[in-house]
Amino acid sequence: MNVLLIGGGGREHAMAWKISQSSLLDELYICTGNPGTVRHGRNLALDLHDQKKLRAFILEKKIRIVVVGPEGPLVDGLHDRIAADPQLAGKVTVIGPRMEGAKLEGSKDFAKEFMFRHNIPTAAHRSFSKDQLKEAQEHLDRAQPPYVIKADGLANGKGVVITSDRKEAGKVVKDMLEGGRFGAAGERVVIEQFLKGIELSAFLITDGEAFKMLPSAKDYKRIGVGDTGPNTGGMGAVSPVPFADKDFMQKVHDRIAAPTIRGLRKDGIPYSGFLFIGLMNVNGEPYVIEYNVRLGDPETQAILPRLRSDLLDLFEGIASGTLSERHVDVDDRTAVTVVLANEGYPNEVQNGNPITGLELVRDAYVFQSGTAMSGDQLQTAGGRVLSVTAFGKDLEQAILSAQRSAGLIVYEGKYLRTDIGLDLVKQPATRTSPQPQPVK
Ligand code: AMP
Ligand code: GLY
Repeated sequence: MNVLLIGGGGREHAMAWKISQSSLLDELYICTGNPGTVRHGRNLALDLHDQKKLRAFILEKKIRIVVVGPEGPLVDGLHDRIAADPQLAGKVTVIGPRMEGAKLEGSKDFAKEFMFRHNIPTAAHRSFSKDQLKEAQEHLDRAQPPYVIKADGLANGKGVVITSDRKEAGKVVKDMLEGGRFGAAGERVVIEQFLKGIELSAFLITDGEAFKMLPSAKDYKRIGVGDTGPNTGGMGAVSPVPFADKDFMQKVHDRIAAPTIRGLRKDGIPYSGFLFIGLMNVNGEPYVIEYNVRLGDPETQAILPRLRSDLLDLFEGIASGTLSERHVDVDDRTAVTVVLANEGYPNEVQNGNPITGLELVRDAYVFQSGTAMSGDQLQTAGGRVLSVTAFGKDLEQAILSAQRSAGLIVYEGKYLRTDIGLDLVKQPATRTSPQPQPVK
């Protein structure tokens, strides 16, 4: 089977690595891929909006499955364009929803209405359009702080402001609705109840009828140690999440995942591919913070190494509508992923610095994202440069192993969080260091 994978980050490197292990795979193409994915398939640049060229490529290479890594092309209608093409219809399966389903991520207002309609637990909310600034301000007067204010559309993970300052909240709403903050994404705002708890992410794969839960993960969004500083795309991940025990995940399955897939069917929204459910654990009860219509980055780098099943076989299950017959087998061990970023991230960074030491890493997977080749030399080329995933017999060992391997990689501007997973360790990680012996 020939596969085209769309994307070029660490998530797609991990997907390419996993897909390449499948006995069902003939050829893997990655658009655009990165220097890490060339070991698993062929990188190429295709303009996804040039339907003629995309069609010619899919037909010539006999592509059966198109896997979409990031949300952008889905929100933008890539699946719809392929499905509407008479020469491609029925020949190729897209892993990722059509535009309508992608609205679960592309519009917070749509997602909230969907959850409300289908009785899926989430924070109470109100949404306001451009001409409702006055109503939005009145709502803030009545609401309890902290205020959670979200731009409706895609804003690269930056469209959420949480503040307890009423004045600032008012300004944020005004800037979004009238001042063009976040552009069109902010022309509608959602103001919601603040949920106090611990965050985690659940993932599933679905053919629109059946769904299979994938391993859960916890992401570390802030740039600084101790969860400080601005939000990023994600600085690390841990899978599984120790506080998401069997009981809790059963609630996620029964109260959130199942009603979501049922709700999509009831609403007549076809959906195939991955669903990423951002959750808050509020005193043992799961609430949805957001849906994403793809896998997470860097969560994918932690969950795919734990997946024992053949990913392409699951995709084949989607293609044939027989996902219900497939089995998801997961490694029990803990995986910890540490992102190696570039100084300055999530703001501007300096690129073009040589990266060395990858060959020294023996006990971990290294996935590439912000990298480029200059001749034979690997260089930095983005905010998040690499991610390193290690296993351990327990969380503590996985943390130590990931940090040890991350330490072997060298480049100017290297920045990483040294505390990924530490908040989840019941006892400090230093416990394994030699204890002082009593003096006799
Ligand atoms: P989102 O883009 O919707 O995932 O929001 C970004 C981050 O804001 C989340 O990862 C949470 O940390 C936080 N957040 C979003 N909504 C809420 C909420 N209702 N209550 C508390 N924190 C929230
Ligand atoms: N790591 C969060 C995301 O992929 O959206």
